[in-house]
Amino acid sequence: MAQEDVFKKLVSHCKEYGFVFPSSELYDGLGAVYDYGQNGVELKNNIKQYWWQSMVMLHENIVGLDSAIFMHPTIWKASGHVDAFNDPLIDNRDSKKRYRADVLIEDQIAKYEDKINKEVAKAAKKYGDAFNEQEFRSTNARVLEHQAKRDALHQRYTEAMNAGPDLNELRQIILDEEIVCPISGTKNWTEVRQFNLMFSTEMGSTADGSMKVYLRPETAQGIFVNYLNVQKTGRMKVPFGIAQIGKAFRNEIVARQFIFRMREFEQMEMQFFVKPGTELEWFKTWKETRLKWHEALGFGDDHYRFHDHEKLAHYANAATDIEFLMPFGFKEVEGIHSRTNFDLSQHEKFSGKSIKYFDPETNESYTPYVIETSIGVDRMFLSVMSASYCEEKLENGESRVVLKLPAALAPVKLAVMPLVKKDGLPEKAREIMDGLKYRYNCQYDEKDSIGKRYRRQDAIGTPYCVTVDHQTLQDNTVTLRDRDTMSQERVPMDKLEAIVADRVSITSLLKKL
Ligand code: GAP
Repeated sequence: MAQEDVFKKLVSHCKEYGFVFPSSELYDGLGAVYDYGQNGVELKNNIKQYWWQSMVMLHENIVGLDSAIFMHPTIWKASGHVDAFNDPLIDNRDSKKRYRADVLIEDQIAKYEDKINKEVAKAAKKYGDAFNEQEFRSTNARVLEHQAKRDALHQRYTEAMNAGPDLNELRQIILDEEIVCPISGTKNWTEVRQFNLMFSTEMGSTADGSMKVYLRPETAQGIFVNYLNVQKTGRMKVPFGIAQIGKAFRNEIVARQFIFRMREFEQMEMQFFVKPGTELEWFKTWKETRLKWHEALGFGDDHYRFHDHEKLAHYANAATDIEFLMPFGFKEVEGIHSRTNFDLSQHEKFSGKSIKYFDPETNESYTPYVIETSIGVDRMFLSVMSASYCEEKLENGESRVVLKLPAALAPVKLAVMPLVKKDGLPEKAREIMDGLKYRYNCQYDEKDSIGKRYRRQDAIGTPYCVTVDHQTLQDNTVTLRDRDTMSQERVPMDKLEAIVADRVSITSLLKKL
């Protein structure tokens, strides 16, 4: 199945099974805003718990924080977001639609790549086993022509973006490449302008006394402005970290790919404060630590890759992304940045107050350097869902959709089902539920045939189904069905908790780190 189709199916699966709904659907939706349903919220909470515990419980020198979304507006001036948190936008005069100039050009680059891939696929089909892809790519005239156009465009685009960006050059590229508006089909483009991504609102009741405040575009600044409060009250010694999970808001113009790019989203960020000069060593350590966290989920190491930044932001001295293989290619899920002492120094400058750290071991004061790990909860959610979604043909000719979620992240851990709705089986099943519900999110289900009930649980990724049958009444054993293998084993009721405990708890993931 084409990856595009897989993605479409995943999006409708998310809605059909209560994972993700478009926000305000009753009123025809609100662009790039989504709500998490009954299963989505459980999966999301489990992802957050896995991250939080890996940071705060497994590191004695990392503590948590929950700072407010609204902050003093000067914070955003100091951080550079008021002046430089922009996207280059262009309007089509005929359709009146607005686009990100950089995205229009990136799409054009992708079109050349598509053309090359189609040529390769066609040739592979034609020549079968005898096909040598490498040779074909380096000799076929059409492929070489597309490749040359793609490379030239890529270079021109990179140079334009690195030069500020150069807005006139971005527009010129759009004109030269004859890129048309997908709605009107015309090339009637305006100039390219910079557009700030922060949402703003007014705080205070009177027009005179109100103050313009921003909805935070990242949670990180809440950590920076609190770092000394936490350091002093927690008696933290450098190196130490502060972790935070919270909402962030960006007025994204190109909102697409479902929950990949949203206007309201959630971040899990950790700022690690280190002694100047040691930051690159720590950057390396955090790269390894974070990759391990991802890989422990068991989707396969080939699903991840680092994308080291060649062009660094002016305040960074190293940066990388952890990319995940989504149905639409490798995409950034997490950023790891060595941010030097830029943010803390800026807050010192703009607040006029010293926020230096006093090192009791060397008796010196300095502004710590910072390594940041920043991951989007929603992108992580999307990566977990897309790696878990499976359509399987069964031996009996039937098919099933199964979410092979890591058991520790699954919304429901155990479904308890009486084989039939009579003979005292429901009561026995309820007894099992009552014993397990304090520890695990369990679901009781007695409606429809047992086969249909299994399918329902497969579709939401429940790792285990417990079936109560007539034998249970005699010897207190039940069948335990494994979601992935569909195999069933007969186990004593009173061993259930111990059997599944190791497999479904977050601790099982944490122990792999
Ligand atoms: N404090 C650093 C920072 O915010 P970023 O690369 O802009 O860095 C970090 O964002 C992570 O937040 C990204 O890797 C991504 O997972 C997530 N993210 C950013 N913008 C997003 C959006 N519009 N929708 C969903 N997730 C987003």
